[in-house]
Amino acid sequence: MQNINLKNNLMNKKIAIIGAGNLGTAIAEGLLKSKFSKASEIIVTRRNISVNPLRTMGVELINNNNAAVRKSDVIILAVKPFQTLELLKTIQKEITANKIFISVVTGITMNEIENAVGKKISLFRAMPNTAISIRESMTCLCHRHAKEEDVEYVHSLFSKLGKVVSIDEKLMEAATILGACGTAYAMRYIRANIQGGIEIGFDAATASLIAAQTVKGAAELLLLKKSHPEQEIDKVTTPKGCTIAGLNEMEHRGFSSSLIRGVVASYQKIAKD
Ligand SMILES: NC(=O)c1ccc[n+]([C@@H]2O[C@H](COP(=O)([O-])OP(=O)(O)OC[C@H]3O[C@@H](n4cnc5c(N)ncnc54)[C@H](OP(=O)(O)O)[C@@H]3O)[C@@H](O)[C@H]2O)c1
Repeated sequence: MQNINLKNNLMNKKIAIIGAGNLGTAIAEGLLKSKFSKASEIIVTRRNISVNPLRTMGVELINNNNAAVRKSDVIILAVKPFQTLELLKTIQKEITANKIFISVVTGITMNEIENAVGKKISLFRAMPNTAISIRESMTCLCHRHAKEEDVEYVHSLFSKLGKVVSIDEKLMEAATILGACGTAYAMRYIRANIQGGIEIGFDAATASLIAAQTVKGAAELLLLKKSHPEQEIDKVTTPKGCTIAGLNEMEHRGFSSSLIRGVVASYQKIAKD
């Protein structure tokens, strides 16, 4: 019976995405491709509604935020941080206690959202990353005043778009660094491998394929086997071998240390701003 209730709760909710830019569009596309939602269950807004790929998929695209919120059970806010609080004031009357409100806006706290809306609502903050466009995001979530079924619903929604973890709101900035900026750090690591690969003989396209697939495979080893990186490294390093020689040279040059310092520098920047 509980399963049937959960299934009913997950189905047929109308979702409004306010701000159909990069992230808002990627979320809508992911929900359609995963069949979490039908096109008729999604409505998206932006001010300039002339061109948008979602329309060709049958999604309603309008420039009236109030109408979108009124018609929907779930609101996903995906505008820029500086646009957020003013926009919230214009839609606050339509955001009622029976709706689920999810903000993916970086750096705007649940307190700020609640103050702008002027009441307690079923409120979530989500921090996805750009891999959401291929349904491989890492999304960190926190919430307040949400019923258990709302929490399950929001988790299952973002689970269709990658992996999900619940965190305290005080870790949202850290989640932005490790999860969202982390994509850029990984890209630099892969790029360096490509450059090294070209120097030892590969053309750029082959080096890119080998570097990207190798990093993907390494990540999958950790995710699927739940092993520690060092356990996997032990399997690749033979005594007096080439792997350990390369790894130790990287460490002598400050590899791990520079990555840790980079993560901390990004965090100090976000914490200060
Ligand atoms: N990109 C990421 O990887 C990522 C990851 C995590 C979090 N975030 C957060 O997600 C948010 C969106 O990022 P983004 O990269 O998708 O930005 P974006 O491409 O600029 O999208 C924002 C969208 O909001 C629309 N918009 C602005 N004012 C509006 C209004 N009053 N009513 C309706 N729509 C409005 C804009 O379209 P018009 O100008 O046509 O209105 C635009 O399409 C940001 O707060 C960002 O911090 C992004």
